[in-house]
Amino acid sequence: MIPDTMKAMVLTGHGGVDMLKYQEVATPTPGPGEVLVQVTATAKNNTDRKAREGLYPTKKGEVKSFMMGGKPTLTFPRIQGADIAGRVVAVGEGVDQARVGQRGLLDFNLYANDRRDINLTPDYYGHGADGGFAEYVAVPSDQFHHIPNPELSDAEVASMGMCSYQTAMHMVTSANLAAGERVLVTGASGGVGTALIQLCRIIGAIPYALSQPDKADALLALGAEAVLDRSNMDRFQEQVREATGGKPIDAVMDLVGGEMTDQFIDTMIFDMNARSTYPRLSIAGASGGNISEILWTRIYLYQVQIFGVSHGTREEADQLVEWIRGGQLKPVLHGAFKLSDLHTAEHYFVNRGSNYLGKIVIVPDAQWDSHGQPYEIKGGA
Ligand SMILES: NC(=O)c1ccc[n+]([C@@H]2O[C@H](COP(=O)([O-])OP(=O)(O)OC[C@H]3O[C@@H](n4cnc5c(N)ncnc54)[C@H](OP(=O)(O)O)[C@@H]3O)[C@@H](O)[C@H]2O)c1
Repeated sequence: MIPDTMKAMVLTGHGGVDMLKYQEVATPTPGPGEVLVQVTATAKNNTDRKAREGLYPTKKGEVKSFMMGGKPTLTFPRIQGADIAGRVVAVGEGVDQARVGQRGLLDFNLYANDRRDINLTPDYYGHGADGGFAEYVAVPSDQFHHIPNPELSDAEVASMGMCSYQTAMHMVTSANLAAGERVLVTGASGGVGTALIQLCRIIGAIPYALSQPDKADALLALGAEAVLDRSNMDRFQEQVREATGGKPIDAVMDLVGGEMTDQFIDTMIFDMNARSTYPRLSIAGASGGNISEILWTRIYLYQVQIFGVSHGTREEADQLVEWIRGGQLKPVLHGAFKLSDLHTAEHYFVNRGSNYLGKIVIVPDAQWDSHGQPYEIKGGA
């Protein structure tokens, strides 16, 4: 029996965590082509905080919320949470009843059209439409991918959500990474970085992780060839050459930006005679700062190709689902919080300790004992 109302964490406007209110709201009804999902776990992403705080300027200081098709799609009230795992409990018109009961993972994109190869207005569930910080969510049937794998818990499935994994995938495909290439992955211990390390290994590329020494063992175990210390940027070029045997990095997958960008470019262009492809820089984040000073002469003279990456395509989602089902992609799950405790989770996410790797997930209180408690972060924030 599906209740008429449900618990949800509702974002009521731009601002601090106090703008997130734990409320009773109407349970959504699945429309034609949709499924109703009972949420069991939703992974947290940086975008939840950035969208809440209004930190998406397109030019310095210009806007609080990013635009799609000329207008902001984030309106209030809004239920955030992009990376949703759960079970189908009802279907809308035109959807096979056999889907009821299936466990799945959402492809989080709000696609503007049916194109499978390109996605030019990347909006997403939890931003332009309600997401998973709730007990139920209605989503397109073809974007709720069946993940039967009994070896994966629901929290682990959510931790492989597309906001991180599809972004990582699109960084890889944009730069056309190939087997044997040396790839610098910055922000390596985060959701996107841990996905990138795995994706590099799947395609046969060699990932070099920029992170912190106390995360090195875990990153090496995940597949990093070597871990470079971001607290020692004065010796960064030496660190890279020691790790690569003096060879240049072929491509950089950058999530950090800021003052470090110029140094990342140096790792690719210090000896152009040692290269056989153009230097490539895929950028999908700016955890180290939104503004980088780069001499354009260095970009065009060294023919550095730069790819801005946001989200990904239906084709990439399909490929990721195949790799999740096949066990090639693994979850990197740090821990879980209850939905009613999202304020604490937000503080924990921002003030994370040095042991933090991968994702945290948010579990509806009614699902906690089954899906959250095994991953409880003791002591909270
Ligand atoms: N374009 C998109 O569609 C899209 C999608 C998802 C995420 N993003 C963006 O991509 C970035 C990474 O996302 P995520 O989900 O992986 O984030 P995350 O889980 O928060 O990880 C970010 C990592 O960056 C590193 N870092 C943080 N502050 C830093 C600083 N000041 N200098 C250098 N390194 C720093 C840390 O890794 P170490 O401790 O290992 O250094 C941290 O774990 C964020 O900026 C996010 O907003 C964009």
